[in-house]
Amino acid sequence: MKRFNAKYLINALKTSYFNMVTVLDAVDSTSTYARDAAYGSAIFAVKQTDGRGRNGRSFLSEKGGLYFSLTLNAADFPTSLYTVAAASAVVSAIKKLINVDTEIKWVNDIIYNNKKLAGILAERVGDKIIIGIGLNFYPVDFGQYKEIATSLYATQYALATREMLGTAIVFEFERLLKDNAEALKIYRERSCVLGKNISYLENGFEKSGRAVAIRDDGCLIIEGAEGKKAVNSGEISIKLY
Ligand code: BTN
Repeated sequence: MKRFNAKYLINALKTSYFNMVTVLDAVDSTSTYARDAAYGSAIFAVKQTDGRGRNGRSFLSEKGGLYFSLTLNAADFPTSLYTVAAASAVVSAIKKLINVDTEIKWVNDIIYNNKKLAGILAERVGDKIIIGIGLNFYPVDFGQYKEIATSLYATQYALATREMLGTAIVFEFERLLKDNAEALKIYRERSCVLGKNISYLENGFEKSGRAVAIRDDGCLIIEGAEGKKAVNSGEISIKLY
């Protein structure tokens, strides 16, 4: 595995908005750290000791992954599609940088070869939106998650670097934050649930239905035994397979 090159990142990552770059060797969680950071910060960590995922889950963050959080002022980007823009930015950046196709499992998982490659955690603290992105880059021992998690590279050798991919994702995220239509287009095109029968958990109950559409506000439309319904990210959790 190549050493994480903070200098490269600080030089390369000059977008107009996310222009305050911090690189930490280790931190509990870049998203927790980001609560005290100014708007327009990009905080990277080589590893996290308490990486957080959605619904209070933890996110395994060993050395070898790409872990970062971005802060923005909601007033600067008046949209509710932060997760949509971030997920679309990840798949789009991977495609542009290394020509690999990945998919989006509504609402915030990035899937590669039917396994989870990356996750996105969007949080709001007052006016501050914190977008945390965690991507498995080099292979690590996923332990109990080995059947459902994967990394972008299967070996410790990779032509692209975490810094290159991180830079590409942030540029793409800033572009898509300003272009909701394009963000939604990618989100729908790269969805691995649209048009499929899915099993999901709603209030602890397992249900099934067909994912028929993703609305302009990001809600998923599911057609099931009780007819069509729109769900938002907090309401359901789709089972991986
Ligand atoms: C999920 O899969 O539920 C979301 C995972 C988000 C992980 C990233 S890693 C960088 C940032 N810091 C965290 O503690 N979480 C996010």
